[in-house]
This record gives sequence, C-alpha cells and structure tokens, in this order.
Amino acid sequence: MNNLNNDEGTPLASLDVWEDDVLSRYPEPGGPAKSKEEFRNYDKPELDGVREFYRLNHKYQTYENVLAKKANFLKFDKKEMPWWQAMEYLNTLVDDSDPDTSLDQLQHLLQTAEAIRADGHPDWFVLTGFIHDLGKVLCLFGEPQWNVVGDTFPVGCKFSDKIVYPEFFADNPDTYDERYNTSYGVYSHQCGLDNIHMSWGHDEYLYHITKDYLPEPALYMIRYHSFYAQHREHEYDHLLNANDQEMFKWVDKFNPYDLYSKSPVPPVVSELKPYYEDLLAKYFPATVKL
Ligand SMILES: [Fe+2]
Ligand SMILES: [Fe+2]
Repeated sequence: MNNLNNDEGTPLASLDVWEDDVLSRYPEPGGPAKSKEEFRNYDKPELDGVREFYRLNHKYQTYENVLAKKANFLKFDKKEMPWWQAMEYLNTLVDDSDPDTSLDQLQHLLQTAEAIRADGHPDWFVLTGFIHDLGKVLCLFGEPQWNVVGDTFPVGCKFSDKIVYPEFFADNPDTYDERYNTSYGVYSHQCGLDNIHMSWGHDEYLYHITKDYLPEPALYMIRYHSFYAQHREHEYDHLLNANDQEMFKWVDKFNPYDLYSKSPVPPVVSELKPYYEDLLAKYFPATVKL
C-alpha cells in the first residue's frame, strides 16, 4: 500500500492539486471574483484525481491507521540532517504535473513566510510559515498521498458530514464500529484537542517534530492548518476546550497566508537563505530528526 508506484499511492498528479482544490472551496474573501474554472486551472482527469484521493483518504484514515503511523513515525528514526538541508530534502518532492505555473515546495514555504514577515508579525510566526509543510517529507518515506495531505479530521468519533466528500466515509470501517461512530466516540465533552487523535498527515507529524521549540500558537498553526472542518465549519466545538478556541484564532490568522500568498513570481532562494537559516538556528537545534 505504501508503494508510490501503486495507484493508491498517487491519485493526485501532485500534492499541489489537493491545495488547489482547497483554494477553490475557500476562495479569498474580498478577493477578485474568480469563477471555479479559473481556480481549477486543471483538466477533468485531475478532478477525478482529487475525488479518488479523497476516496482513499476517507476509506483508510481509521483510528487504527493513526495509531500505527504514530508508532512508526514518532520514533524519528528515518533521517537526521541540518534544518536547511531538510528543507532542501523536502524540495526533492518534485511536482512534474505543471512545470509552467506551479511553485516547488520551498517556493511555497518562502512565499507564505515572506507574506507573514511583510505584515510585521513576530519572527516565530514567520518561521512557522517557512516550515509548515515540512511534514510532507512523509511522501519521500514512501507514504501514499492520502497519509500525507488532505483535510484532517478527528478519528475515534463520528466523521462530520461537513468534511469534503463525506460520502466516502461509507468505505471506512470506523463508520460501522460503535466505539467510534457516535459524536463523542472515545472522547468526552470539550476534552480538548490534545486528547484527540487527528487523521494522519504532514500537519500532525511536523507538530511532534517541533513541539518542544515553538510557542503554543505556532504549534496550533502547524498541527491544525488542514483541519478545515473546524476552522472553517466549526464542526467540532463539542470536543474543543476553551484554550483550543482561543488558539484557533491563530490558526485562522495563519490560514490566509497558506492559501492566498501564492504568486507566480518565485522568490529568490539564495537571497532569503541567510535570514531563514538564522531563524531556524534561533529556535531549533542544529539538526532535525525525521
Ligand atoms: Fe500544509
Ligand atoms: Fe502550505
């Protein structure tokens, strides 16, 4: 299942196709009125790819899958390297679907971070923008796309019908497991997100890599930036505690930089590298264990 040459590994022509689809779902408020067609500047076969991606994601993101991925990846025994080198390693995740218009991973991260910096936010916020997708290295460790990207959601309780393509949860065995298919499932009223298992992906993985080094708002931005069913649809208020609600204001603040900072003008990596290397050194140890 984890072989990337397998169809179930790569229904998306690239990881960006998922993000383009999120953008079409949540267009920039107050932005220029664009038709769905303008956002979806890809052909029908890729739309099928998005559907297929969500079908697999919703079928296989079970409570058991999450526990298994945590047991494996939270050992951080895959690779160890200097932080900047890890960012370059992520960038070997080549997007060959649309070389004319798509930015590579490092360019997306630099654009997100530079937009945050231009608005005068604290340096840890800029740093968060710069690293927020580093967890996508999971793909380079052979994980299928459905275990790396996609909207995230709690497992161990009923899947919200506000999650995109909810009909595909009919294929998920947890839908029929009475431990997991009630609105609280294995959790309790406002027990707090820290006690909840989210579907596995790049967000949760990077949270565990960074949790000892960044302020709490940064950790919420990293951990929940794809949790659209909550930060856009407020579907899990019965599980969030008061601190989660407070911290989600930061997730909301971060999200537009992730979605709407994409510009076709690529940043000049060599010019920005010294600033970002200093920022990495200020908050993190010299190397990162993946
Ligand atoms: Fe992301
Ligand atoms: Fe991103």
